Amino acid sequence: MKPKIFTTVPLPEKVEKNISEYCEIDKWTGDRSIPRHILLEKIKDVVGLYSTGVGIDEELLRHAPNLKIVSNVSVGYNNFDLEAMKRFNVIGTNTPYVLDESVADLTFALILNAARRISELDRMVKEGQWGKSDDDKEYFGVDVNSTKLGIIGMGRIGKALARRAKLGFNMDVLYYNRNRKLDVEEEYGVKYADLQSLLEHSDFVVLLTPLTPDTYHLIGEKEFKLMKKSAFFINVSRGQTVDEQALISALQNKEIKGAGLDVFTKEPIEPKNLLLQLNNVVVTPHIGSATERTREDMAVRAAQNLVAVVTGKDPIDRVI
Ligand code: DGY
Repeated sequence: MKPKIFTTVPLPEKVEKNISEYCEIDKWTGDRSIPRHILLEKIKDVVGLYSTGVGIDEELLRHAPNLKIVSNVSVGYNNFDLEAMKRFNVIGTNTPYVLDESVADLTFALILNAARRISELDRMVKEGQWGKSDDDKEYFGVDVNSTKLGIIGMGRIGKALARRAKLGFNMDVLYYNRNRKLDVEEEYGVKYADLQSLLEHSDFVVLLTPLTPDTYHLIGEKEFKLMKKSAFFINVSRGQTVDEQALISALQNKEIKGAGLDVFTKEPIEPKNLLLQLNNVVVTPHIGSATERTREDMAVRAAQNLVAVVTGKDPIDRVI
């Protein structure tokens, strides 16, 4: 009998075919995320869980005595309680590398959109307001090219972003990271800065750091006050790396000029969240890696990790 796995997300056809050579697959087919009580029931007898963003904690692990692996279809793994997984001897994997370029693309799209007010002016044109004023200064934005970009978190995505900024947009790039990245400094001429100096000098501040206990609310009231009044803040990491109330205040009080956000404290964001009422904020629904090609590559990689562990081998992307 093949070992059983459960997936909370749909599988591309070729991935399903590949996994089913080694495993019996049970899947969630509902339109909305699987309710927790159903998930706990479904994982009673599985050896593998294939999912995105499902909270893996002690309660869940107690319900799955045969579980050997949780394969995340994402690079972030802040949904893992790493200590609990270690105690229960459950392996956790993620899907790095394959999404770096797509997330860097989306990040740059948010920078350009916020600076040139694309979403705001798109709404204006569609509402028939173009030409209501003779003064086209009303449509002015600010330049992205030849300005200063500050990247907080210089991992693979940061490097892909730095490449776009330096080679495509002639930007001066500062970065802040736990460790200096001399290879990136050498390759692209980016400069290391401490967090305070990066915040004080950047025209665009991009947050790319993973969410960990150390990066929770890394950017808050004090940090927004350090930023230029003309600066834009872009977040494509996790919502909890920023104090969202402080961000709203900074935008309302014009301590910064605007923001581009792909991630939020609560997702999906509440429709009444004040961020959605501000014209100088561009939002997307956590789509950093959401292209057909990249999502398929992530699915393949997550399947390779899952099958490896289920068949007694080492996965390529073990994080715990
Ligand atoms: C990830 O994979 O963690 C990204 O947030 C997806 O967009």
